[in-house]
Amino acid sequence: MSELSGKHIVLGLSGGIACYKSAELCRALVKEGATVQVVMTEAAERFITPVTMQALSNRPVYGSQWDTRPANNMAHINLSREADAIVIAPCSADFMARLAQGRADELLSLLCLARPLGSVPLLLAPAMNREMWSHPATRRNLALVERDGGVLLGVGTGDQACGETGDGRMLEPPELLDEIIAAFQPKVLAGRTVLVTAGPTFEGMDPIRGITNHSSGKMGFAVARAAREAGAEVTLVAGPVALPTPRGVRRIDVLSGLQMLAACEDLAPRADIFVATAAVADWRPAQASAQKIKKDGSGEPPVLRFIENPDILLTLAQGERARSGALFCVGFAAESHDLLAHAQAKRARKGVPLLVGNIGPAAFGRDDNQLLLVDERGARELPRASKLALARQLVAEIASRIPA
Ligand code: CTP
Repeated sequence: MSELSGKHIVLGLSGGIACYKSAELCRALVKEGATVQVVMTEAAERFITPVTMQALSNRPVYGSQWDTRPANNMAHINLSREADAIVIAPCSADFMARLAQGRADELLSLLCLARPLGSVPLLLAPAMNREMWSHPATRRNLALVERDGGVLLGVGTGDQACGETGDGRMLEPPELLDEIIAAFQPKVLAGRTVLVTAGPTFEGMDPIRGITNHSSGKMGFAVARAAREAGAEVTLVAGPVALPTPRGVRRIDVLSGLQMLAACEDLAPRADIFVATAAVADWRPAQASAQKIKKDGSGEPPVLRFIENPDILLTLAQGERARSGALFCVGFAAESHDLLAHAQAKRARKGVPLLVGNIGPAAFGRDDNQLLLVDERGARELPRASKLALARQLVAEIASRIPA
């Protein structure tokens, strides 16, 4: 996947020990398809050399507004006009203060001031000691920079180079990469709250065993990521899966269908959108044994009785909030054949405005998929693509259907 192909990113380094992480970030951006133009302040060059950054970005590094290489001698104009985004990583406390004041006495501040406000986002990855980060001056400066359109990519918490522990570390390169990719996504769900279920459920029959299914959770995790990229506040209720939590998404792990229902009923009153991708087990053992069910030597298998699990999607779709139009519910259907007919029937049965059909065997565990969107107007196919690409298209479809 090349999430950033065609994007030109100015990567600005100000002075801080986190500069060593910027080398890896530069490499990650290039691997993701971006072209990267590195600009370093004098202080940054004390921590890491332009040689390293040139080798990784495959472009000469800029460091001075007096650089005579540009024919027009206006590096700050050229660099800020070419960029699809300017990323300052690390953004030191001093550099934040410069941005807040609109200083222009060295190249990096100068090009930030010269950036076209409406078309080139300024993304900040601060890195500083925890006392510096929490100092009222830094809080004030950050607030000013954000008011002027700067976007905070976040800071990490933990051990700091100075030996102290707290907020203010620079985010790790993979986290920054995800944030930068997210920054390019349209914020079609800004201010919305989204609830997603994902993965299988596990219905225990005794403390050791249970029944479950092959759902990998990948589609649901992609939906959660895409919704968060689109600006929503996202909670993901996940069955047992081995997937990393998408950045910025709140995750609640559950095992059984009953636990998943309880979590969803708890969260639904605050949600605007509910996307049910989970493969909830239809049946659970009527009685889970408190102790392991042992062989009794007779050769006779134990007889298990099952009862039906509650339908989470149906429960929420029939709730007051969905019926009043405040909660937009989206269902999924995994079928093996006659996708359109089954998806239409399922949409009607569940009473949801949008149902997403897919062919189960061609979707389970894979990184790509193919979807069929069914609503009251008809059906629309989303051709085979990565689950993340499809999730972004689905998010756009949902956004276009909910009231403003
Ligand atoms: N779903 C749910 N809770 C359940 C069962 C299903 O929330 N107990 C949701 C799924 O997350 C999905 C949709 O309902 O969004 C799938 O519908 P479902 O009735 O599970 O489909 P199938 O079981 O495949 O139905 P059928 O056996 O009729 O094909």
